[in-house]
Amino acid sequence: MGQQQTFETRIFEAIRAERARTQVPDGFPAMPEIPGGRYMREDFFKLEVEHVFRRSWVMAGHEQELPEPGTYKRFDKLLGSPIIIVRDHEGVIRAFYNTCRHRGAPVVKDASGRCNMLRCQYHSWAYDLAGRLRSVPDEHDFVDLDKSTRGLLPVRCESYRGLIFVNEDPAAIPLLDYMGPLAEEWSETGVEDMRLDYRWSRIINCNWKCALDAFQEVYHINTLHPKTVGAMLEHSAATMGLLPNGHSRMCVRITGADIDATPEDGWPNGEVYRRTSVAQTLWPSLNVPWSVGTGRFILFWPRSVGQCEIEVIGLGPDWGEGPLPEDRVAANANFDHILDEDVRNLESIQASLDSGAFTGMMLNYQERRIYWSHEQIDRVIGVERVPQELRVQPVLAPYVET
Ligand code: FES
Ligand SMILES: [Fe+2]
Repeated sequence: MGQQQTFETRIFEAIRAERARTQVPDGFPAMPEIPGGRYMREDFFKLEVEHVFRRSWVMAGHEQELPEPGTYKRFDKLLGSPIIIVRDHEGVIRAFYNTCRHRGAPVVKDASGRCNMLRCQYHSWAYDLAGRLRSVPDEHDFVDLDKSTRGLLPVRCESYRGLIFVNEDPAAIPLLDYMGPLAEEWSETGVEDMRLDYRWSRIINCNWKCALDAFQEVYHINTLHPKTVGAMLEHSAATMGLLPNGHSRMCVRITGADIDATPEDGWPNGEVYRRTSVAQTLWPSLNVPWSVGTGRFILFWPRSVGQCEIEVIGLGPDWGEGPLPEDRVAANANFDHILDEDVRNLESIQASLDSGAFTGMMLNYQERRIYWSHEQIDRVIGVERVPQELRVQPVLAPYVET
């Protein structure tokens, strides 16, 4: 309780300070212009795919998609890295490259299914659910085949309260360490009891960061969402938290919610989620807006320098038997409507960026989460690999919550 109290109190205090503020806090640095080439150049895009997406923890789905031993699904969102995720006979969820150790064919072709063995659809090499090569047709015709060295190549796979994450970097730090304070903050939402209630994905013709950026500030809500979010939230009553590893948080007071008077015995657990609109970014590209009882996991997957895929995985309270109740369908449609107000804007932004008129991005204090994401991109790529003219100068480290 003590720790929760601290979190609630800290967030509400920070929002009150934001509302009262009439200028940028003393000493806050100017954030240098973000070079436009980071949204348009093929060489930078390749660095992002190689060093960011293929070396970070990314959300690959939910354990409810793999309810029984032997259930599996393909995970193809990481550019150039076909992966299979499977629940083994002990119930452990594992990930492997979907690449047969015989001649490299994809082992499974179906998007999802259930099996006792992962049997390659080309010549029937069969792997058990732990990835070990178990049987090879006409094995006597292979000279010196050592089956124990030809198992499926594993990919790091860890879960957080039902959410499945993978990381292609074998040396990555554990998922919980990577999440840092978000592991604790998400525990307040009851996410482990939520049930998958909808999901879709859509290709958008804009750079993945262009799409993500729209979810890392509320500076735009009065102009882009005047009848929806803009009417429900007050953009100046918002606090932005910069967190380790490029992650960040935004809490915006829900119009009319009382965040002033701390109750005598402290704020109840989870009150930040009831009195503010909370959305966190798990770097590099997962943004999660919460409302009471629901989490909407918005994933931004790079497809090419000028194209991304937006995937939404919705979780909410278990509704029991039968189809999703009408009010829940309506709530999801409402969420999609708001998201669409952002998405409709994106393709025209990319066209405008590509025109050549755009040289760089100038961010204000409210938009500093975007700058923080960029700083982390350079740190993880390795600044020496980033072309000099595309680098972002790190200035925000002193403002990270510890
Ligand atoms: S490529 Fe898989 S069995 Fe031949
Ligand atoms: Fe928006």
